[in-house]
Amino acid sequence: MAKRILAFFIAAVMLLGGLSAALAETTEVTSVTGTGTAKGFGGDVTVTVTLADGVITIVDIEGPNETQGIGSNIVAEWPEAFVEANGIVDTYTGATFASITRKAVIEAALAALTAAGVNANDYMREYVSDQAEDVALEADVVVVGAGGAGMTAAIVAADMGCKVVVIESQPAVGGNSVKSTGGMNAAKTVYQDKNEFGEAAGVEKTLKAAEAYSDNEKIQMLAETVREQWTAYQEKPEGYFDSTELFELDTLIGGKGLNDPDLVNTLVCNSEAAIEYLATLGIDLNNVAAFGGASVKRIHRPVNDEGKVVSVGAYVVPRLEKALTERENITLLLDTTATKILTDNTGAALGIEAEGKTGNKVTVSAKAVILATGGFGANLDMVVQYKPELAGFMTTNASGIQGQGILMAQALGAATVDMDQIQIHPTVQADTASLITEGLRGDGAILVNANGERFIDEVGTRDVVSAAEIAQPGSFSWLVVDQKMVDASSVIQGYISRGLMLQGDSYEALAEELGIPADAFRATMEKWNGFVAEKNDPDFGRTSFAAPLDTAPFYAVKVTAGIHHTMGGLCIDSGTHVLNADGQPIPGLFAAGEVTGGVHGGNRLGGNAVADFVVFGKIAGEVAALYVLSQE
Ligand code: FUM
Repeated sequence: MAKRILAFFIAAVMLLGGLSAALAETTEVTSVTGTGTAKGFGGDVTVTVTLADGVITIVDIEGPNETQGIGSNIVAEWPEAFVEANGIVDTYTGATFASITRKAVIEAALAALTAAGVNANDYMREYVSDQAEDVALEADVVVVGAGGAGMTAAIVAADMGCKVVVIESQPAVGGNSVKSTGGMNAAKTVYQDKNEFGEAAGVEKTLKAAEAYSDNEKIQMLAETVREQWTAYQEKPEGYFDSTELFELDTLIGGKGLNDPDLVNTLVCNSEAAIEYLATLGIDLNNVAAFGGASVKRIHRPVNDEGKVVSVGAYVVPRLEKALTERENITLLLDTTATKILTDNTGAALGIEAEGKTGNKVTVSAKAVILATGGFGANLDMVVQYKPELAGFMTTNASGIQGQGILMAQALGAATVDMDQIQIHPTVQADTASLITEGLRGDGAILVNANGERFIDEVGTRDVVSAAEIAQPGSFSWLVVDQKMVDASSVIQGYISRGLMLQGDSYEALAEELGIPADAFRATMEKWNGFVAEKNDPDFGRTSFAAPLDTAPFYAVKVTAGIHHTMGGLCIDSGTHVLNADGQPIPGLFAAGEVTGGVHGGNRLGGNAVADFVVFGKIAGEVAALYVLSQE
């Protein structure tokens, strides 16, 4: 605008001076605008660029369906970066972060510049980081990893008065947590009580399953307590039936009895308080649903303003990030990879050495170190080292999930547990490795094989469903939903807009799209709808029923098994102290989230990862802060 006013002024002066109009025109600012579109992660991304005399003055990027907390960061950050650089600049060069969105924005911006009539390639710029200097910081607590556990721990420690530095190896916060789609398990919440109880068969099934663990005293004790609670509830049903003991029993049976009972007890007993704590940060998980391996509806999910279910990670992570960045006593360093835990001569943790984006050295001296680096599900060499049969499997994990925290703590003598317990998830989209949430099955979806037939209780535990799927022809299946389910879920709408689902106006039309026998598929669907009406699945014993899949159009996504969660990790106690081989705490060293082992045993239940990061992240923040305060 200022340039336009200046041009008008010069022109007026020249005219007054009797100079020719032609000369005056050559001083006017030429303003041009162009728009370009490209396919992003969640649909179209549109870039509009305005240039004045060849200088980029305004950039607008629209990408409403890019993943919250990942691609949405690019959409929000890059307009300013492009104006500042007077060109297209990839501020995440070399990183795998949001690569599809980045590529789309660059493509759309090039098209926009071309449409504006300039040579777009002249506007490609190289990103030069301003982070080249070595950095030395001091803090009370340094948190390594800004996923769910790390951010929760940092917020809690900061609120207890600590000066906190958080370092994150990736260019954005979120870790695996931002990819989490399902929800958070919690027992005895006010939200559960808003549901009508109809899961008697689920409770009975779990009590029966407990019988197989006759040599596990803890499971037997819990089963006895749940039986008593269940009998009392049947005599006098009040509210929704659940208990911390039933949650504990589900988690231990789901984990094949391998879990550390103290850690499971800590998880379940703090789950309701964790839901309440999140609410104090403006994070409301108030929609309760069924999920694999849970006897009753226990997973808590967020909904949008229209009441549609949304992805938990994309909802929770930006809100935790806001809480983190609002606190003046927290410093967040992105693109900074921890390489070593610093110790004093007694072996107590005293900070972190790390490498910044340009290879610069970052040192954080602190009184306590919290490791929240996640597991190792994206480090396929490490996965295969512990479980060779997973060679060649896809992973749902974020690229930063490399096992760094485990390796750094091992160098100090930390013990690990269950490293070979690596979960595969049965519904990973076959071409893109996108996680298709178990929530769809909990809400009523079924799985059919290449013959158009069901083959398993879809809401069983992931190990069981994955094994059954791998045994099907081609080792894949189709996950089927109907229009009713689509209308209720913005998560499914996202899968459709990303082109992950095929569609048909009838069972036969969908079968044709999928290339499966139409007769068999229709028979399967009709039989299933009959089971839903009867709330009984004589074929596979499923106990969670939602609504029949009878509303056209019908949709299906091709899914297969992929690496999802590493249950093993650092040994901790229920106060999140990292333990050495003698079971003794390493002073000043704490850990929370997927970097730890023992909580989930041989198989994690869906919804327990979010519960894990909130419950243990909160404990780590509290205990580390108390440790710091005790030293003053
Ligand atoms: O399927 C899912 O939504 C995954 C949830 C989880 O791993 O907890």
